[in-house]
Parts: sequence; structure tokens; C-alpha cells
Amino acid sequence: MTRLVPHEPPGAGLADRFGRVATDLRVSLTDKCNLRCTYCMPAEGLDWLPNPALLTDAEVVRLIDVAVHRLGVTDVRFTGGEPLLRRGLTEIVRAVAALPGRPRMMLTTNGIGLARLAAPLAEAGLDRVNVSLDTTDPARFKAITRRDRHADVVAGLAASADAGLLPVKMNAVLLRGINDDEAVPLLDFALTHGYELRFIEQMPLDAGHTWRREEMITGEEILAALRTRYTLEPDPSTRGGAPAETWVVDGGPVKVGVIASVSSPFCGACDRTRLTADGAVRSCLFSQDETDLRGALRAGATDEELADLWRKAMWAKPAGHGIDDPKFLQPARPMSAIGG
Ligand code: 5AD
Ligand code: SF4
Repeated sequence: MTRLVPHEPPGAGLADRFGRVATDLRVSLTDKCNLRCTYCMPAEGLDWLPNPALLTDAEVVRLIDVAVHRLGVTDVRFTGGEPLLRRGLTEIVRAVAALPGRPRMMLTTNGIGLARLAAPLAEAGLDRVNVSLDTTDPARFKAITRRDRHADVVAGLAASADAGLLPVKMNAVLLRGINDDEAVPLLDFALTHGYELRFIEQMPLDAGHTWRREEMITGEEILAALRTRYTLEPDPSTRGGAPAETWVVDGGPVKVGVIASVSSPFCGACDRTRLTADGAVRSCLFSQDETDLRGALRAGATDEELADLWRKAMWAKPAGHGIDDPKFLQPARPMSAIGG
């Protein structure tokens, strides 16, 4: 039987052809970064977006307002590149916090500069942070990120907790032969400091296109490593649209998450929509196409016209990432220019 699918998105929210509705908006505020993680960027960096291409602070806030008021977005996560490099970040957060029907606001960051910025960001209205940290060892940190900044990240995590950005979450990517022995040490570190750790499977989103599935440390491997030291029970609270499968550690209350995006895709429950730093909507990290909103915005489009473009972009969201499909193509933009 053929299922008839309407050609236009119905209703008000960000629905797609597969019955999903996006309420979680990821906003990339810059494609620049002050680290050069080997699995993300080349040592010399990338060709950054030119400044005039970037949305201004006011344009970012306007599009978030459209997403919240016309499209039902409830959660906004600022990403990069490294979002702390965006000079207007605190003021963007303050302006979004002042919107009626204020969304929850989160930040995904490498933590550099957070020691100084956590308190002002919390004061401006930021709710939570996810800090990326792949190793507990400063020398290894330098090898992975090509910068000697381990102490800054550790200080940034502590400052986030002090500023009340709770629970402080940590993201870690394990790389075969590099830090794949760190599942337990990273969880030890997180438990000691009261941070909530989530491991993320490495995805084919690096600028150098060097990802190999056989090289990837799988969620199963991570769980097996953790179980050599800890007991893990499935978290009874439901997964919902959240990508992390969570486990209760040693009877609780602490939990650990494993985001097995590649080996156990959660695309069917995805509730995300993305905006790049130059104002394009991406319906998926792995989309081959995107919808420019900046042009319409600068040509004087109304809020409803912008909302309509956004709805159409999301209606075309693919069913899944298709990494296992032989025809899979990595998207043209690397992770650092889409936002995590
Ligand atoms: N696969 C999985 N995670 C990645 N990150 C960066 N590149 C990749 C990738 N190819 C992570 C960073 C950070 C978050 C924003 O995304 O380590 O934790
Ligand atoms: Fe920067 Fe994140 Fe890429 Fe590392 S993974 S280079 S911190 S954008």
C-alpha cells in the first residue's frame, strides 16, 4: 500500500514527512575554534566563513525568536566551532532570555575561556553547559587537540559548577589507539567532580574525511570497558528524543551516557533543527542540502515568511543519516561548521 504524504508541511511546528517534530534548535555561532582536535580539523585550521556572511547578533536573536514563537522550539543550544569565541555571546543569551516564552538555553563548548565566562553567562540566563573533554591527561590533551590547554578546560568545568550551570555535562570521544583506554579514567574524573559524562561515537564529520567505521570505538566497547570497573544498570527514565542512552552507575545516583549515533542510530526519534553561523537551516547533521534564511532575512522577509522557509526545510528532513548505506556521502560542511 502506498502511503500518501502531503507535499507541504501542515500545521505550525517543524514537522517532517516521517512524523517527527523538531523542538530542539542548535545554533552555531561561529565556525572558528581555538583547538585543532585531530578528528575534527587540520592543524592549519579551515577557511573560516568571512565576517559579512555571519549572522549578526541581532539576526541570530531574531531567528531564535521566530523559532520559539512561530515554530514551537523549546530548547536552544549554542554551538560552534567554539561558541565562546563569539564576542556577543553573553548579550545573545541575555536577549534570548528576555524573549517571552523563553526557551531553555544550553552551550556546547570546549571549555576554554569558561573559567572567566561561566558566571556572566549564568547571570545572563544560560541554563547548562556541555564541556568536551576527551582525556584526563594533559600531554594527551595536547596530542589530541594540538594545544596545551588541558588545565583551562578543567578550570572551565569547575567554574560552570560554581556558577550553578547544573548538572555540568562532559562529552568525550574515544579514538582507537589514542585514548581508547580512558573510559574508566574519564568516568572516575566525572564522578569525583560530580559531572555527568557522555561518550559519543565518532561520526564521519571530520574535515579531512578520514573516518573509518572499523576504527570507531563503538558504544558496546565503551560499555564493556566501563563494566570492568563499574556496574551499569539501564536508566529507567525514558530516552525520548535524547540521543544518550543512559546508565545508572554503581546503583546511582550518578549516570553515564553513551551516544551510539553510528552503531545504534536514534534518527527516528530526532527532535532537532540546526542553524549554521551563516544563517542556513540544516534539518540533519548529515543533510546534503540546506536552506538559506540569511538572504531572505536581509531582503526584508517577515517573521512568518522566515518561519515558512524553515518549515519547508524541515519537512524535507531525511529519515536517517544513512551512514551504513553504500551510497552515503559525508556532508560538505564539516562538524565544526555545523555545530555538534
Ligand atoms: N564525531 C563525534 N563527535 C564529534 N565531535 C567533534 N567531531 C566529532 C565527530 N566526528 C564532538 C566534540 C564535542 C562535540 C561538539 O562534538 O568532541 O564534544
Ligand atoms: Fe574545536 Fe570541537 Fe573541533 Fe575540537 S572538536 S577542533 S574543540 S570544534
